Amino acid sequence: MKGIVFTEFLEMVEAKFGDEMVDKIIDDAALPSDGVYTAIGTYDHQELLSLVALLSEYTQLPIPQLVEKFGHQLFGQFLAGYPGFFSGINSALDFLANVENYIHVEVLKLYPDAELPTFEYDRSIPGALVIVYRSTRPFASLALGLIKGCIEHFGEEIELEAEDLSFGKGTAMKFTLVKQG
Ligand code: HEM
Repeated sequence: MKGIVFTEFLEMVEAKFGDEMVDKIIDDAALPSDGVYTAIGTYDHQELLSLVALLSEYTQLPIPQLVEKFGHQLFGQFLAGYPGFFSGINSALDFLANVENYIHVEVLKLYPDAELPTFEYDRSIPGALVIVYRSTRPFASLALGLIKGCIEHFGEEIELEAEDLSFGKGTAMKFTLVKQG
């Protein structure tokens, strides 16, 4: 997993729970990287899962909730860091429908070793978008948070439903978005 994801995660932990929490989870996780991440480096995604598990233990907040909040925040970072992906797009459904065939394709050009999920889409119903997330890694809650961040950014009223397709493993999830009004 790219270092940018780790650096953003640790920034979120610092902002929400303070410096000591960052030090505590890094120390206790005994990570191969020692918790030293550069944005362009690549690290085992298990390190992120270890950090999240410890954060959950110390904050008593459920792992999926923490990962979702992180996704929400990460969307803001993507918005600031990759403005080109947003130019000419003014709806959340149009933006999200671009992730698989455009945005993540460009991400892979920038970071050839990025490990990305796949998304399948159904846009057959006007005003609605169905997205099926699949990954070998358990980051469905990250996708949920990113989708929520995206909806908030475009300021539209969209009903969102998430249906787990992986028996709680977090590796497959169906998202149904329906624009209201
Ligand atoms: C400007 C928009 C976006 C950019 C620049 C971007 C970029 C990235 C990058 C750099 C990674 C890390 C790859 C790695 O760790 O090796 C990633 C992973 C991921 N992206 Fe995106 N992404 C964007 C939008 C989205 C959106 C809107 C979603 C949700 C629908 C999404 C879902 C994910 C998920 C869930 C992962 C974690 C890897 C996995 O699940 O296997 N991304 N993305």
